[in-house]
Amino acid sequence: MHTVTVVGTQWGDEGKGKVTDYLAANAEVVVRYQGGNNAGHTIKFDGKKFALHLIPSGVFNESTINILGNGMVINPLALFEEMDMLEKANVSTKSIMVSNRAHVILSYHQTMDKLFEALRSDEKRVGTTAKGIGPAYMEKASRQGLRMCDFVDEVAFSEHLDQHLPYVNVLLKTFGEETIDKDALLKRYKPYQLRLKPYVQDTARILYDAIAADKKVLFEGAQGTMLCTDHGTYPYVTSSSPTAASVALNTGISPKSIQTVVGVSKAYTTRVGGGVFATEFTGALADQIRTQGNEFGTTTGRPRRIGWIDTVVLRHALRTNGLSSLAVMLLDVLKGVHPLKICVAYKLDGDMIDYVPASIKVYERCEPVYIELDGFSEDISGVTSYDKLPGNARQYIEKIEDLVGVSASIVSVGPDRKQTIIRESFFK
Ligand code: GDP
Ligand code: IMO
Ligand code: MG
Repeated sequence: MHTVTVVGTQWGDEGKGKVTDYLAANAEVVVRYQGGNNAGHTIKFDGKKFALHLIPSGVFNESTINILGNGMVINPLALFEEMDMLEKANVSTKSIMVSNRAHVILSYHQTMDKLFEALRSDEKRVGTTAKGIGPAYMEKASRQGLRMCDFVDEVAFSEHLDQHLPYVNVLLKTFGEETIDKDALLKRYKPYQLRLKPYVQDTARILYDAIAADKKVLFEGAQGTMLCTDHGTYPYVTSSSPTAASVALNTGISPKSIQTVVGVSKAYTTRVGGGVFATEFTGALADQIRTQGNEFGTTTGRPRRIGWIDTVVLRHALRTNGLSSLAVMLLDVLKGVHPLKICVAYKLDGDMIDYVPASIKVYERCEPVYIELDGFSEDISGVTSYDKLPGNARQYIEKIEDLVGVSASIVSVGPDRKQTIIRESFFK
């Protein structure tokens, strides 16, 4: 068996797309297992830049099968927009398969997302991507959702709307919104229904066979552990679990098939949207990092909040994901930052603690405890081997390894595929 899972260890945007694209060169199947087009995964190579929201980052490797798993919520319009963008850039989308058990995001999910957010007070707003993710997962959990197998079946889709639209329209009316007309909706989605049909398959069985045949399979997480509905900073989270534990459930394979887990972390931390962020800082240095790291959301363009690396968070990710190693990304961005701070614990009401509190109210009272290391001033964006990194950059990586208790198998020094230092081989 050869499976590798790529997970975010922080609040998303850690560089999962870049790592997945890199590892996909040797993978036969790449699978996205949760989330939807709230994700934004950036990939750069040969002077080209792509932002993927739904399609697995293995799509640039021609021989890879790319699966959108059953745990995903998929907006058909967004999927075809992305497929058309790729085809226009001469990237084949023939390898794409969509799980027949994945859920569908329709226009009213997006409307509901905005309406539910507007009901929250300013300080309690989650700051969602407004893509309809929460409402689609709500309907999945409350057994009102629409699955791909039914969306592409004319009769099943029509029957679903007969059952479900009265509920949707009661909600919309309550908010003073325009209600949905069934025929107009059917007409609008007809071209997408027809176009999607050939892509919709029993991907769990395909994956089972691939794993049984010893194929190299890569699982690509979206979001990050701290945005997990269960293990993140609830309720300031997304509506699925990005952790390695969710791979089996959300793709239909056995938990025994989860082997190597790569935890992707920035060399610092960012967060988009609301919620607690213990190591956050603002001011000139945050602005410098935001500019150097181009820290603006891939999906919404929002400026990302900036903070120091937090090893309490990374150890939380280690435990919840069973990390085999770390991929430390955007190390180049810390050039000229003196000193470098690493959060090693929190101070809570006078006591030192080493865990992520469940209660947001308690977490908000935590003060980060830092150690300081000397920074580096060299441009490291052209460095291709670990030994060639400046001593202070290596010292920083090794301190993180010590504090988290796992090695850094990948160190990234720039957004391009080539700007990657690999210290351990995957898919041997
Ligand atoms: P994802 O959502 O985890 O795939 O990450 P995003 O693509 O949303 O955000 C990561 C950003 O960092 C993107 O703009 C990448 O191009 C960029 N990036 C990835 N690795 C590096 C790196 O090592 N250095 C720099 N400067 N940028 C990087
Ligand atoms: P990738 O895969 C960063 C955040 C939103 C918001 C919260 C809930 O690119 O790392 P949602 O639309 O999911 O209901 O929003 O989660 N969020 C992300 N932040 N990267 C992402 O994905 C995110 N996907 C959702 O900003 O705070
Ligand atoms: Mg992103």
